[in-house]
Amino acid sequence: MMNLFEVYSLYNIEPVRGKGCYVYDKDGNEYLDLYGGHAVISIGHAHPHYVEAIAHQVSQLGFYSNSVENSLQQRLAEKLGRISGYDDYRLFLCNSGAEANENAMKLASFHTGKTKVLAFSKAFHGRTSGAVAVTDNPKIQSPFNVTPNVEFVPLNDIEAVEKKLASGEFAAVIIEGIQGVAGIQCPDDNFMQQLREATKKYGVVLILDEIQSGYGRTGKFFAHQYAGIRPDIITVAKGIANGFPMGGVIISPIFEAKPGMLGTTFGGNHLACAAAVAVLDVFEQERLIENAHAVGEFLLAELRKMKKLKEVRGRGLMIGVEIDGSGSEMRKKLLFEKHIFTGGAGVSTVRLLPALCLQKSEAERFLEAFNDLLE
Ligand SMILES: Cc1ncc(COP(=O)(O)O)c(C=O)c1O
Repeated sequence: MMNLFEVYSLYNIEPVRGKGCYVYDKDGNEYLDLYGGHAVISIGHAHPHYVEAIAHQVSQLGFYSNSVENSLQQRLAEKLGRISGYDDYRLFLCNSGAEANENAMKLASFHTGKTKVLAFSKAFHGRTSGAVAVTDNPKIQSPFNVTPNVEFVPLNDIEAVEKKLASGEFAAVIIEGIQGVAGIQCPDDNFMQQLREATKKYGVVLILDEIQSGYGRTGKFFAHQYAGIRPDIITVAKGIANGFPMGGVIISPIFEAKPGMLGTTFGGNHLACAAAVAVLDVFEQERLIENAHAVGEFLLAELRKMKKLKEVRGRGLMIGVEIDGSGSEMRKKLLFEKHIFTGGAGVSTVRLLPALCLQKSEAERFLEAFNDLLE
């Protein structure tokens, strides 16, 4: 019998069904999902409009290659441009967050003719070759991935950035809108503005990885929009298609598209596009970004009142809570005693990354359970 290559540590629970912000196991036990399958579930589980759109599309045409016209891609691009405020940018579709970052860095290198990328301490950008090279975690880099083309500087340290960029060797700076895997670390708005200025000054491409922090999660379409800046490239994935695997690269008009410079077999396929268009329909119909802002601010304010917490970080529904004790123990208690899924990071952080349709009453249920366990 073939077994699985065991690289994940698993909870002894199998969700088999979901609805909104809840998942259920085979015995019908209900769990409040404040993890969203790692920030992926944006409009909620099994949303009827989403289910209908995918079912209809697969009944027509599930896949054809990128060698023929696919108007669903254009529909998605138009809608995404309008809703995100990037109408004048262009969209390249792929299959995951790591792949989006690979393509972003490749574009930057093609464009500038330079080889190096500057990234930040504690950054996470994915596990493929280039993406893991700009990820600040030697444990997940094989010797093959380590390259002199990548350098790291501390977050929020503009002097360190300027010093590196002045060398003239850098094609790009890559930064998360809010660092997710690092436990929700927010760059200062002021730093983001200075970073934009510095990258312009040195002719370096600014790549905003909004894979976790984007798609409405923080209460704006992109986290960097709080700083009022416009990057050269933005990468998206996770919430884009509510769990259907998809990634995207949003590309400013300064880049010239040349046939063959980027490509993928599965990227932008019919089913993925139908899922992603349905996600944006629901964003508009249910005003999910406004909801993420309102419920997120409520959660943040209430958490900040809890005296036993060491720190509360985040924006909207991207929240990191630093507890006095083990984060993984707390998450286990939340899951097994209170039936609430949460995310983790580091030793003492609990991460909240729920679907953007989270209701205030659901947030209150979490606050009560969490408070109980902190006693
Ligand atoms: C900020 C960020 N970038 C990139 C990735 C990688 O995305 P994927 O796992 O879809 O390759 C992740 C995944 O957690 C992420 O949080």
